[in-house]
Amino acid sequence: MAIKIENLSYSYLQPFGEKVEALKNVSCSIADGDFVGIMGHTGCGKTTLLQLLAGLRAPTSGQIYVNGEEINAKGYDKSSLRQTVGVVFQNPEYQLFATTVEKDVAFGLKHSGLSRQEVTARVQWALETMGFDFAKIRSQSPLALSGGEKRRVAIAGVLARKPEILLFDEPIAGLDPYGRENFLRFVGEINQAGTTVLMVSHNMEALAEYTKHLLVLEQGRLIDSGPTREVFVRLKQRKNGAFGQTKAQKIATLLAEVKLPLSSGVVTYADLLSALKQELTGGGRG
Ligand SMILES: Nc1ncnc2c1ncn2[C@@H]1O[C@H](COP(=O)(O)OP(=O)(O)OP(=O)(O)O)[C@@H](O)[C@H]1O
Ligand SMILES: [Mg+2]
Repeated sequence: MAIKIENLSYSYLQPFGEKVEALKNVSCSIADGDFVGIMGHTGCGKTTLLQLLAGLRAPTSGQIYVNGEEINAKGYDKSSLRQTVGVVFQNPEYQLFATTVEKDVAFGLKHSGLSRQEVTARVQWALETMGFDFAKIRSQSPLALSGGEKRRVAIAGVLARKPEILLFDEPIAGLDPYGRENFLRFVGEINQAGTTVLMVSHNMEALAEYTKHLLVLEQGRLIDSGPTREVFVRLKQRKNGAFGQTKAQKIATLLAEVKLPLSSGVVTYADLLSALKQELTGGGRG
C-alpha cells in the first residue's frame, strides 16, 4: 500500500511548556511494495515518524495518506489503519505478556472476526514464518524464551494480522549475526510477497543490502531520500564524512588514500569485490 507524507511536523510539549520539534516539514512518497530504510542520528525523529505513520500520534501539522486516504481526517476509520499497518517497536520482546506463546501471538486477532480454527492457522503460519516449530513452541511461556526468541514471537504477533504495511524500529539491534541475517532474509521475503516495509536501522550494511529506498533524517528534517545506492553515494560526498557510510564505502575511501581509487558507486561488499576484481583483471586503471 502506498504512503504519502506532506509537510509533516510534530512537536512534543515538555512539562514546562517548551516545545521539542521532533519532525519538521517532512514530505515524501512511498510506493506500494517498497522496502524503505530510515536512517539518522539518535534523536533525529525516526521513532516519532513511525508512531505518526501507525496513527499513534496525530501530527502538529501536515498530512499522512495511506492508500490515498488521510489518516487523521475527520471520519477516517482508525481501526482500518490498525489492520493495515503493523508496527514492531524497539525491543518488542518486553511487551509479551500472555501465559503461552500461542495466546500472545493470537492476541491481536481478537477482534478480527476470524473463526477459532482460522486464528490457530494464522498463529501457526506466523510462528512458522518466524522459524519456530509450532507444536513445540505453542504452549511454552514467553518468559522462558531467550531474548532473540522473544523478539521473534513478538514479530509473529504483528505478522499474524497480515498487515499490508510493516514498520520496524531497529529490529536487528542486539541480535547476533545469525539472527540478524535470518531476520533480514525473512523481511526481504515478505517484502517480495508484496508487503510494504519501512525499517529504521543504525546498521548501514543492513540498509545498503536490503532496502530499495532510503530516507535520511537530521534533527527532524528529511535531508535526503531516493534509491538506496544513490543516497549512500551522496552521503559519502557530504562534509560530515563518516555518517551514513557502509564499511565497504569506508574501505574504498582507505584504498583511495593509498592510491587505489575505486568506483564511487561502491556501497556493498559485493560492489567492493567486483570493483577489486575489475582492478586486478586490468579493467581498472591498468
Ligand atoms: N515523549 C517525548 N517527550 C518529549 N520529547 C520527546 C519524546 N519522545 C521523543 N522526544 C524527543 O523528540 C526527538 C526525536 O525523538 P525520537 O525518539 O523520534 O528519535 P529517534 O530518531 O527515534 O532516536 P533513537 O535513534 O535514539 O531511537 C528527540 O529530541 C527526543 O528527545
Ligand atoms: Mg528511536
